[in-house]
Amino acid sequence: MTLIETPASLIPTLPGRDYTDAGFFAAEQEHIFEKMWFCAARASELTGPGSFRTVTVGRESVLLTRNRGGEPRAYFNVCRHRGARLCTEESGQAQRSFQCPYHAWTYDFDGKLIAAPNLTKMPDIDRVQYGLAPIAVREWLGYVWVCLASDPPSFESTVLQEVVERLGDLGALERYGVEDLRVGRRISYDVGANWKLIVENFMECYHCATIHPELTEVLPEFADGYAAQYFVGHGAQFGEDIQGFTIDGSPGVEAIPTVDDGQDRRYFAVTVKPQVFINLVPDHVIFHRMYPLAPDRTVVECDWLFLPGVVESGVDLTASVQLFDRVNQQDFDACERCQPSMSSRLYRDGGVLVPSEHHIAKFHDWVHQQVGGDAVRSTPRP
Ligand code: FES
Ligand code: FE
Repeated sequence: MTLIETPASLIPTLPGRDYTDAGFFAAEQEHIFEKMWFCAARASELTGPGSFRTVTVGRESVLLTRNRGGEPRAYFNVCRHRGARLCTEESGQAQRSFQCPYHAWTYDFDGKLIAAPNLTKMPDIDRVQYGLAPIAVREWLGYVWVCLASDPPSFESTVLQEVVERLGDLGALERYGVEDLRVGRRISYDVGANWKLIVENFMECYHCATIHPELTEVLPEFADGYAAQYFVGHGAQFGEDIQGFTIDGSPGVEAIPTVDDGQDRRYFAVTVKPQVFINLVPDHVIFHRMYPLAPDRTVVECDWLFLPGVVESGVDLTASVQLFDRVNQQDFDACERCQPSMSSRLYRDGGVLVPSEHHIAKFHDWVHQQVGGDAVRSTPRP
């Protein structure tokens, strides 16, 4: 193959192997998902002490629960005796404690080892040291965020900063009161594509006119191919005849009362690296969390959040949910269409980004910075 110089309007993407290679994926798990703050679950899923959920973060299984005081807690889901996985269910309610099903080592909701066969005959065992290993945890926007690093990065200068960079200030997001909204619908998508393809797709709107007829009807400016995320603080305006962010432009539900005039009739999108997308419209919030499970497999959990009164009223949410469910399916189909080609010899050096996608190159550079020096871009940058 003859090497041709990349024209100025195009920027090379990552090489294909970055989307297929097990070693590269392992490096991402180690240096991205196990080091950064990771949005693990909706806080309301942990209803009280001992209510639990298990999630995969990087290469680890993480056990999320609440202690007797109702505080969120996160632990490595690994028994300190001989390593059995403590909880195998995806969610549940522990009665008084977590008991390992192998030899019955038993831990309280603060992780302390409180019982084990013959434990009294081993008085030298420190029950905290041999308790469940804790993971940094905090709640924000009504979600439980964890960080597996022993020295977690500042939440403010990472997660919050991403929102500031995109929306201009944190208040713009706070006005949606996301922590007080209720899950009206959750859909989980098992996507046969690398997590980066999903992020890249979310960051651009060059594809909108081709694959999102319903969305471009509601947000006509998306037909131009410039995503809302292209400009700081910009939200795409609803079309003139559009009454709500719904599949057919029909009126939505009761608007979030604290949303201001500049946010009314607009759609804002935020990417919080590495695995969260937040979509804001006047009457609901669509919140995506990705769980990358393999180089070619990512589970995406998507919540549609509404005012509590709207969810409790039992009003039909279908028209609101259908719009982004359709968008999700269209996007994930596109990502799945790209994934097999990542291992094609034709994509060995990657593809190209057009000008309205140039900001994706920053994401590519960021990935490479995180995973370290040996994963070098194979195509020279202009
Ligand atoms: Fe858990 Fe033995 S491995 S009690
Ligand atoms: Fe899309």
